[in-house]
Amino acid sequence: MQIKNYIRDIQDFPKEGILFKDITPLLNDPIARKECLSILVASLNGQRIDKVIGAESRGFFFGMLLAQELNAGFVPARKPKKLPFTTISASYDLEYGTDALEIHADAIQKGDRVLIHDDVLATGGTAKALAELVQKLGGEIIQFNFLMELSFLNGRNKIEGHPIFAAITY
Ligand code: PRP
Ligand code: MG
Repeated sequence: MQIKNYIRDIQDFPKEGILFKDITPLLNDPIARKECLSILVASLNGQRIDKVIGAESRGFFFGMLLAQELNAGFVPARKPKKLPFTTISASYDLEYGTDALEIHADAIQKGDRVLIHDDVLATGGTAKALAELVQKLGGEIIQFNFLMELSFLNGRNKIEGHPIFAAITY
């Protein structure tokens, strides 16, 4: 099965000149979804994972599936002011300005083995912020794990030093 067949190209979304990679056909097909999950899990070669952290919002879909499959906890990294308990925060650059992601301060324990997941690795800003959150709480990053990598944006340069896996590369 070709996972790429379940990623739909949308021209000029969210603005002109951008070719958007739409993962909703993959989410909507139970067989393709399962196959994709298997590929992501296999990339870990059986390494133990204590926590999966996923970025709001598209990192939640497979992030939770991965946590379930790996018998690990799931840590939602959310946009500012969404989480109710004490949080820690990491900011990252957007095209114009900055944004931030937060997790609960007790979501990761020192020494936890953490899988960082998101749907897309583009410029790498989001993934780098996730890594900062993990490191602030003393977690050990086992792998960065994506459905797809947009390799022409060189996001992996921002997160070097840890294994990076993407099920699909463009
Ligand atoms: C998209 C995508 C990744 C991020 C990748 O999320 O889901 O999280 O951008 O880009 P980067 O590598 O340049 O940081 P977006 O912020 O659009 O929000 P969403 O997941 O809620 O759609
Ligand atoms: Mg996202």
